[in-house]
Amino acid sequence: MQDLLAMRDLSSAQLSHILDLAQTIKQRPSAWQNHLQGKSIALVFEKPSLRTRASFAAGINRLGGHSIYLDAENLMGKREPASDVGANLALWHDAIVARVYSQATLHELAAASDKPVINALSDECHPCQALADLLTLTEQLGDLTKVTLTYVGDGCNVCHALMAGAALAGMNLQIVTPVGYEPNAELLADAQKVGATSGAEITLHHDFNQLQQSDAIYTDTWFSMGQERDSNQVMHDFAPYQVNQDLMKQLGAKYFMHCLPAYRGREVTAEVIDGPQSLILHQAENRLHAQNAVLVELFAGAQA
Ligand code: CP
Ligand code: NVA
Repeated sequence: MQDLLAMRDLSSAQLSHILDLAQTIKQRPSAWQNHLQGKSIALVFEKPSLRTRASFAAGINRLGGHSIYLDAENLMGKREPASDVGANLALWHDAIVARVYSQATLHELAAASDKPVINALSDECHPCQALADLLTLTEQLGDLTKVTLTYVGDGCNVCHALMAGAALAGMNLQIVTPVGYEPNAELLADAQKVGATSGAEITLHHDFNQLQQSDAIYTDTWFSMGQERDSNQVMHDFAPYQVNQDLMKQLGAKYFMHCLPAYRGREVTAEVIDGPQSLILHQAENRLHAQNAVLVELFAGAQA
């Protein structure tokens, strides 16, 4: 592994290894406390963040490394091209963690840098989130090949990462969106093709009555960062796609998941997201462990 730019860049074996490693690191953090000693990592954020920024900073610290945070004012497009940012950061830092508007920016950073680049969210994909989510489902439900997850709402970056992750893990994923808000068709076809090998069924629907029973329901905001959408239209189109107690019961779902930040009363009711079935804090906690497994793996590759 040289970079983590998208979930679909991983193989099934790499995904499984990262999830195992994340569990090992989570159980015995002291064994890894010097792993990044002397290493410096640049956290490059074009968009706001709580979980990703704070969990990378804390996680790198726990591995004995150091991080610096660079915000949008210093970055791509504002002062200089991504290629110059990547080439310069690579002179002083051992890896770049980047949250960007466009997936293309990640590829520019990676091409200009001889150090690993990690996608901390782009318009296309949020791989660190999906890794934490798969880790959370493994902890709660065990063998992912026996799990069915339902993703409700916007076919956005989080949905794309889950599609690719489910396909690699052999986990069934049923996606239900309003018409016009489907995930990217090429990424969906790609996930379905990988799923045909791993045993994962990845299906797209608009109608809840077409769905099978599900172990967990996942949703995300209807307004992703950087999207320009007519808010009245979005509220209208997504209104039937709110996750509430009736839907949890209809699908027989044991768990509710959300990457956060969440908007109670929009994509999910407060009763569900703040209730006993909600895994949101497990997901958030696992961001750190999943990301630390990625860092350990990337540096192992760099040293090989
Ligand atoms: N889930 C997630 O990536 O949260 P932040 O936007 O706060 O980093
Ligand atoms: N889809 C959301 C995820 C936030 C973590 C966004 O891109 O804003």
